[in-house]
Amino acid sequence: MNMLAAKITEIFFEKFSAQPAIYFSPGRINLIGEHVDYNDGFVMPAAIDKGIYYAIAENDSRIIQFYSVDFAESISVNIHEVKKMNGWANYVLSVINEFVLLKKNVKGFDCVFAGDIPRGAGMSSSAAVEGGLAFAMNELFDLGLSRIELAKLCQRAEHNFPGVQCGIMDQFANMMGKKDKVILLDCADLSYHYFPLELNGYKIVLLNSMVHHTLASGEYNRRRKQCEEGLMIMSANSPVRSFRDIRKWENLLGYESMMGKEVFDRCLYVVQEIGRTQRASEFLQQNNLFEFGKLMYASHEGLSKLYDVSCAELDFLVNQAAINPGVIGARLMGGGFGGCTINIVKEEAVDDFIEKTNIAYQQQFKISPEAYIVETSDGVGEI
Ligand code: GLA
Repeated sequence: MNMLAAKITEIFFEKFSAQPAIYFSPGRINLIGEHVDYNDGFVMPAAIDKGIYYAIAENDSRIIQFYSVDFAESISVNIHEVKKMNGWANYVLSVINEFVLLKKNVKGFDCVFAGDIPRGAGMSSSAAVEGGLAFAMNELFDLGLSRIELAKLCQRAEHNFPGVQCGIMDQFANMMGKKDKVILLDCADLSYHYFPLELNGYKIVLLNSMVHHTLASGEYNRRRKQCEEGLMIMSANSPVRSFRDIRKWENLLGYESMMGKEVFDRCLYVVQEIGRTQRASEFLQQNNLFEFGKLMYASHEGLSKLYDVSCAELDFLVNQAAINPGVIGARLMGGGFGGCTINIVKEEAVDDFIEKTNIAYQQQFKISPEAYIVETSDGVGEI
């Protein structure tokens, strides 16, 4: 058994004197298609081998007790009194709240959880927390929801107590991921395909900038609103109903004066990123990693200049990748404003890339970035 799984089993036994069921709930990477899941776009995530481990068992009462190993904190709530709180508690309580809203028969349980996924690093620790609990509760109480229904429930949970108006990508990857596969998800209708992730001599390396700029969730919601605003302006003046109706970014040009520069730039990025992700999925299927990598750099450029969700640290890391001949593509990953870059790196160049970037980043920002070589994994499940 994995070390963390063994640890939470032991802590659970000490605290609750019972034998729990154990679940692993993965974080995710996203190869390309950023900030387009809530804009009817395509995304290319995969579940990874870092995530959250849950130990959980019914307790024959009306009380739900959580212990977070990472925060060394407990909470205890009556099922009928689940409400918004602060910090990590919001993520788990919001999941319970969604089951309650569906009038599902939730009973009391005890739960210990811990993670090996860095928080705020753009690897979706929050979806891993939500998904692990939702999946475990669904099994424990036989609540009958499918994986996709659970992903949607977790998305609503994130909107509700934590207040982040996220798209569906993270929760979908968490539930539907498959080892050695990347998902091409069409967020307009949730249709999806799995592609083998054949990197033939390349590795996916995440570099954690170790910064997480404040207001990230506020800015996230603001981007979402700006896209809605842009779409409203377009639909008031044309038959456009979705960003997918705009086939070529040039077709946006006529709206610039109506939208104003900022909203226009956001929409321009979205339309371009949707196109890029479609092209990227074709390159991946043809095993043309080189062209795929170029689109990753273009994606970063758009995220930085047009969507404005990058920061000096992430731009610096992507520039380091761009000047390293062993790297064929890099960009910021996830919501932005800090967190990780995702890099496709020649296997034999990985150590050199990590070392060189480390030295340069330390000189510039006085922080040492963490590096993770990513392995894919199956979606959430019992272990
Ligand atoms: C966060 C959100 C996702 C998605 C990404 C950006 O991870 O949870 O829904 O919007 O940001 O692509």
